[in-house]
Amino acid sequence: MEKRDLVIRIAGQGGEGVISMGDFIAAACARVGQEVYTFKTFPAEIKGGYAMYQVRTSREPVFNPGDSFDILCALNEEAFEFNRHLLVPGTALVYDHADDGFTPVIPDGVHAYPIPMSKTAKELNSHRSKNMVALGALSVLFNIDEETLITVLTDKFESKGGNALEFNLNAFKKGKGLMDTVVKTDPWQIDDPVEPRDVLIISGNAGVGLGAIMGGLKFFSAYPITPATEIAKFVATHIPKVEGVLIQAEDEIASISQVLGASYAGKRAMTATSGPGLALMGEMLGMASMSETPVLVVDVQRGGPATGMPTKHEQSDLFLAIHGSHGDAPRIVLSVEDVNDCIHMTVEALNLAEHYQCPVILLSDGSLAFSTQTVPAPKPDAVRIVDRKRWDGLGEYKRYLQTEDGISPMADPGTPGAMHVATGLEHGPTGAPNYSASNHEAMHRKRFGKLSTVVDSFTPAQVDGDGEAEVGVIAWGSTIGVVREAIARLRREGIKVKGFYPKLMYPMPVRQYEDFARTCHKILVPEVNYQGQLSHFIRAETAINPISFTICGGIPFTPNQIMKKIKEILSCSVEHTTKLT
Ligand code: COA
Repeated sequence: MEKRDLVIRIAGQGGEGVISMGDFIAAACARVGQEVYTFKTFPAEIKGGYAMYQVRTSREPVFNPGDSFDILCALNEEAFEFNRHLLVPGTALVYDHADDGFTPVIPDGVHAYPIPMSKTAKELNSHRSKNMVALGALSVLFNIDEETLITVLTDKFESKGGNALEFNLNAFKKGKGLMDTVVKTDPWQIDDPVEPRDVLIISGNAGVGLGAIMGGLKFFSAYPITPATEIAKFVATHIPKVEGVLIQAEDEIASISQVLGASYAGKRAMTATSGPGLALMGEMLGMASMSETPVLVVDVQRGGPATGMPTKHEQSDLFLAIHGSHGDAPRIVLSVEDVNDCIHMTVEALNLAEHYQCPVILLSDGSLAFSTQTVPAPKPDAVRIVDRKRWDGLGEYKRYLQTEDGISPMADPGTPGAMHVATGLEHGPTGAPNYSASNHEAMHRKRFGKLSTVVDSFTPAQVDGDGEAEVGVIAWGSTIGVVREAIARLRREGIKVKGFYPKLMYPMPVRQYEDFARTCHKILVPEVNYQGQLSHFIRAETAINPISFTICGGIPFTPNQIMKKIKEILSCSVEHTTKLT
């Protein structure tokens, strides 16, 4: 099969500038018209440990970081050792060689380019610029557009002040010069520039921030936590331009409490956190359900429980997002597939919170948080903003008026004639506390009942493929992009497979799941958590009995892993009972 993409992996030690190198390459590729998808992983320490950045670039859309790399740039010996098993014949290796570098045993068939990165940076009296020496060498070897690289380097290092720009441009040029006598033996090249397109290259976290601003956000309460912090950083920079406010709270409980307060006061409000923060927010999310206050919480999932693996990828907060509450506390839970979704689903999530007057939890994940992708430039003017149902000022104001759709008109505090009791207690229609059995039951019916239209009003889950399939794959979050590619490859091999990609996780679109399952002989649910959390929900809520396939090593699936699993299922002689009739 013709290979249409190129994957470059940069690996080294945290603090050596691996992440910057990857960002520069990704930006340079995107600016010359390539599609880009990146993945980065690094340790929880500020300095030291293994850091890795993978850039996948192609003329065609790419949905995941790829199976493995074509080119490895190893900034130290540990990085080489870590990736040695992936250095198959045909791959290229660029590594730090000479006095301060290392001398690896090159596996057979690998195109090796020893570059004195550390030594050169030292000679330039600029040890931090080792990564720029490497970047200069890579630009010559693999046709990374020099002019564009210099522009992105300048943008970054000019802002650091001092002599950072001068030192780094010097190091970059020196790295290029080191290639003068090197003979290229590998076939890898980034395609020549094509007509630039109207795209952005941004991370999932920046995408959420952008979606929030486009979605009319007026208040963000921030409390930093890896891997969600960059959302607040993005919003802090841009929210003043739309006359909004960001406040840093003292902890996550204060954060969600401020969001409730701002929303009660009539403002579109949100916060972003990760699993431990979402756990702390549980009580106030119950308050939001009870008081029917619109709030959005973005949960960027990471390896847990507890501090767990804070910089690593996982999809393990689905149980917490759906059922992490005291009492019966309805909410809407959504998940995003890619950076484009991070933008548009944040807009949608704010709209749903306002329309249904309830908490909405939007699940992103550690892979998407830092992953940068090329996305079509969004059009803020085309964004649809849904406002909450507002009181018209006529008649008696009843905050929890029973209406046909269960949604009661809201009035901002201070509105003449709209005075009412606002507490976390169970209440009757006026807001006054009411503990009668019939009232509690009626209010539960109202709070849950108003969500009964969510499934029908939300865009149906996408089905990838038609007709009957031997295996149907149900995937959520960033696993969808991996499954898309696995399915496309298997189809080219003549295997009948289909995909089902839900983004509305709760309330669950049960009929859509079952309609899909009716067209498949077996259902596979791959997810990056230990328990198979979506599989549990599918078994609990639908008549489907899926095959759960889980990994939880802190990194996402690869297309190869999914393909292998599907082939294994197909070769199994035992007939699985998934098929619904
Ligand atoms: N010259 C000058 N500065 C350079 C440089 C160069 N040649 N190359 C990189 N830098 C700067 C970068 O700009 C960056 O500074 P900035 O943050 O002000 O932009 C800094 O050096 C780090 O470089 P970067 O390339 O971003 O990362 P790295 O590959 O060296 O890895 C990390 C460092 C990201 C692993 C580490 O700093 C980190 O953040 N670890 C995670 C911490 C965490 O979240 N823990 C969890 C707690 S619960």
